Amino acid sequence: MADRSPGHDALLTTGGRGATVELRDVSKQFGPAVKGTAGAVNNLSIEVPPGEICVLVGPSGCGKTTTLKMVNRLVEPTSGQVLIDGQDVQRIEVTALRRRIGYVIQQTGLFPHQTIGRNVATVPRLLGWPEERIRARVDELLRLIGLEPERVRDRYPSQLSGGERQRVGVARAMAAEPPVMLMDEPFGAVDPIVRERLQNEFLRLHRRLGTTVLLVTHDIDEAIKMGTRVAVMQQGGHLAQYAPPAELLTHPASEFVADFVGADRGLKRLSLMTVDDVELGRAATARLGEPVGAARARAGTASWILLLDADGRPEGWLSVGQLREDREITSELADPSSPIFTHETTLREAISRLLATAVQTGVVVDENGRYEGTLSLETVGAALRASAAESTNGAAVPSGAEPATERAQ
Ligand SMILES: Nc1ncnc2c1ncn2[C@@H]1O[C@H](COP(=O)(O)OP(=O)(O)OP(=O)(O)O)[C@@H](O)[C@H]1O
Ligand SMILES: [Mg+2]
Repeated sequence: MADRSPGHDALLTTGGRGATVELRDVSKQFGPAVKGTAGAVNNLSIEVPPGEICVLVGPSGCGKTTTLKMVNRLVEPTSGQVLIDGQDVQRIEVTALRRRIGYVIQQTGLFPHQTIGRNVATVPRLLGWPEERIRARVDELLRLIGLEPERVRDRYPSQLSGGERQRVGVARAMAAEPPVMLMDEPFGAVDPIVRERLQNEFLRLHRRLGTTVLLVTHDIDEAIKMGTRVAVMQQGGHLAQYAPPAELLTHPASEFVADFVGADRGLKRLSLMTVDDVELGRAATARLGEPVGAARARAGTASWILLLDADGRPEGWLSVGQLREDREITSELADPSSPIFTHETTLREAISRLLATAVQTGVVVDENGRYEGTLSLETVGAALRASAAESTNGAAVPSGAEPATERAQ
């Protein structure tokens, strides 16, 4: 699969093996209709193309969980239709439907009296897979989510950390590679660092599997990071906007959406862009063991030279003024404090690391750690301005048109 991050837009062109999920004018009123009170969900229409991640985001009680549960019929809509690949879920037998839909519930919901292995094997068992295949699949999934099968397979959920339990919840939902996954705050109950790791793991997995995902969160940053499309919901299950994250940030459809995405939406756009979106700078370079004179000549007027090892990996920066003519270049002379970035590093992370190390320039390396170019605060600023100008030009599209399926590059 051609997957050139940022994130997961590569999926949009692979066809994937996910199903189309469509909510057509769906409403849910719990209990009898009371005049003047809004239902939990009102006339919601959303179409999620195969392989995309649709994030439902909005304040507590706005109907996100209810919406998700109408897809696998844990809640039946009062009116409207839910279709999977064009088929009305009302016409699909409930257990058959749920076997095709992975579900990660709010607070993981692992079965406490079953081992991790049995938890993950739940759906394959229901589907009657042979033991051999189930066992292989369980081990494969545990490895995929970064847990050693030998270590955790026979433990019970209470013997894992919160973050590990959440991963197992995701593995269980993916066990039979369902064409649709519903995830209700799947990364909710863990600290921000574990959360970020789980999010990245999930995006990687998703790129491989191409499942269609509906993911609920109340965290707008998570929505922007994880979603290929984001549905911003308002109290009463009203849809405030449904658009790719970049569009949400550049063109919020209402004051509610603008408030919800926050005043720092310009900065948030940085988390949608990666080092790949920036034209890299070039530094003068020197090799270990090289005579100082040669390196100096190459530096020209620059006051810093980047020292590379024999394989072209960066060792650090050399201050030209401090190099002595009669010496060879050694790695002790190099200042290694400059941050190292890869092509996947988001511009948001790049900026915060540049600011944290008080260095103006970071070094970009390829997947083998070899030097490719440099990245500075100025080049990031220029890329951001260029992308803002581009998306403003894009605003000429008449309102109400189909949302663009590509992210702003
Ligand atoms: N079984 C139920 N019976 C009656 N009302 C319900 C039921 N389930 C949910 N509601 C109500 O429907 C509304 C939407 O609830 P829902 O659980 O979908 O919200 P949510 O957006 O998921 O919120 P949160 O972010 O807090 O999880 C809320 O007002 C809730 O009280
Ligand atoms: Mg909820």
